Amino acid sequence: MGASSPIGVFDSGVGGLTVLKELRRQLAGESTIYLGDEARMPYGPRPADEVIAFTRQAMRWFATRDCKLIVLACNTATAQALEAVRDESAVPIIGVVRPGAAAAIASSARRSIGVVATVGTVRSGAYVRAVRDLDPLCDVTQQACPRLVPIVESGKAGTPEALDAVREYVAPLLSEGGVVTPVVDTLLLGCTHYPLLREEFTKVAGPGVRVVDSATTTALAVREVLASHRLLADGATPTHRVFATGPVERFSEVARTIFGEKLPEVEAAALT
Ligand code: DGL
Repeated sequence: MGASSPIGVFDSGVGGLTVLKELRRQLAGESTIYLGDEARMPYGPRPADEVIAFTRQAMRWFATRDCKLIVLACNTATAQALEAVRDESAVPIIGVVRPGAAAAIASSARRSIGVVATVGTVRSGAYVRAVRDLDPLCDVTQQACPRLVPIVESGKAGTPEALDAVREYVAPLLSEGGVVTPVVDTLLLGCTHYPLLREEFTKVAGPGVRVVDSATTTALAVREVLASHRLLADGATPTHRVFATGPVERFSEVARTIFGEKLPEVEAAALT
């Protein structure tokens, strides 16, 4: 393992490609290996011990591929499994929750943040802890949005159904309140799929609320770590590989619909 080794990026499915995209934008000289556990998507509604077991398998898969660093792009996996897998891994792992919390705090003038995420992420309380670690006085209100991942996966971003669902989840975070239910000024998209509904979130949240996600700050964190350990690639031609569990046709199709850009040919992977 050295500076020219690839960065591994793991997600439960296609959504983490939003993080991969930002990594590739900010760190254009780096090689990457993406793994989406599409066969077992979604992780959001699963019990924590299952998410930990699946994430552990994924980290073992990356361990055989000479990665210099692994990005846990899945919010649900970061929220529930990062601590467990980090202790076991010889390769450093960066999750998206802490960078997401930092992005939200930086954007929130009134220190009042709404976090939208999967059921598992909300249940773990990881975002609340991460925000409070950085600013113990910050107000954080969470909202689980179980309908949104299926909406994105079925290609319905941009439809009235998507807008209605986002409105249903976000409206309570915007309602008038006092100290207990503050009006948020920042909405943190705490799930890989939600940046693909950014238009809906922005529309529902209105001009007084900033909508942020963790992709930019995660890529910044990766850059900082690699730079401080002299592990940034030297600019030689980077290579990119994308793997998925389950039928790769479906993964490629969903990825292409969502991103509308050319990805490397998707290769099949098995997690055991
Ligand atoms: N990747 C998951 C996350 O960011 C969303 C999809 C899923 O539930 O597996 O929380």
